[in-house]
Amino acid sequence: MTGSPTPPPGHFALRHPVIGPRPLARTRSFTRRGGRMPRTHQAAWDRWADRVVLEVPRPAGEGSTVVDPAYRLDPEEVFGRRAPLVVEVGSGSGDALVAGALQEPGRDFLAFEVWRPGIGHALAKMETATGGAALPNLRVVEADAAVSLRTMLEPGTVREVWTFFPDPWPKARHHKRRIVTPEFAATVADLLTPDGTWRLATDWDDYAVAMREVVGAEPRLRLVSTDRAPLRPVTRFERRGTEAGRTITDLAYALR
Ligand SMILES: C[S@@+](CC[C@H](N)C(=O)[O-])C[C@H]1O[C@@H](n2cnc3c(N)ncnc32)[C@H](O)[C@@H]1O
Repeated sequence: MTGSPTPPPGHFALRHPVIGPRPLARTRSFTRRGGRMPRTHQAAWDRWADRVVLEVPRPAGEGSTVVDPAYRLDPEEVFGRRAPLVVEVGSGSGDALVAGALQEPGRDFLAFEVWRPGIGHALAKMETATGGAALPNLRVVEADAAVSLRTMLEPGTVREVWTFFPDPWPKARHHKRRIVTPEFAATVADLLTPDGTWRLATDWDDYAVAMREVVGAEPRLRLVSTDRAPLRPVTRFERRGTEAGRTITDLAYALR
């Protein structure tokens, strides 16, 4: 699948209040940790990336995490059906993604992750969980979610957005790198279906407070639950937080 390099007239990126016709810069929520993949993850990448990791146009070149703002992904074309769509932002090594796709075959799962070794690990988990097959309802985009989600999906089409254990950037001078910003909250509000939910989790109290402030200030969203997200498995980030004596906070928001 490729997108046209020139946005068609009237494409919403051109009319977007934040983006306008300018090229997009990536967000600062991540540093690109390269690193080699363990051999088993690389082997899983080699076997499955063609089928599971979507090819998207990148005006700044192959290694860029910024997707062409003119490109629109059609989930029906990608998954071959129309089903409730779950978008995971920062899927890491894929625990929630693979568990979710396995447990909910009636939903489609689209993950955004910028850390290729994490995607390789997710593919290895998928392969182990299925006994050597791809999950038909799981796809990954290797791209900056905060930027790509402003343009890549049709507004009002995502049933759930998951942002589990986003990088906490604990030092005060790094807080501006946190992915949960007013702009990102507006992006998620744009994407949710009327019955949609944005689920977040963190083990950092001050990030939980900041999430409640930032997302609470988005006039289209309201807090509907602080219960543990139903499909969220325990990942090493939760374990690490709990072992360090931190409290896990879950937040779920819906449209007003
Ligand atoms: C702390 S990890 C948590 C991973 C996973 N959600 C979990 O709970 O195990 C955060 C992940 O978000 C990814 N990430 C950070 N900023 C991102 C962005 N703008 N777009 C996509 N992924 C991002 C990082 O590469 C990292 O893998």
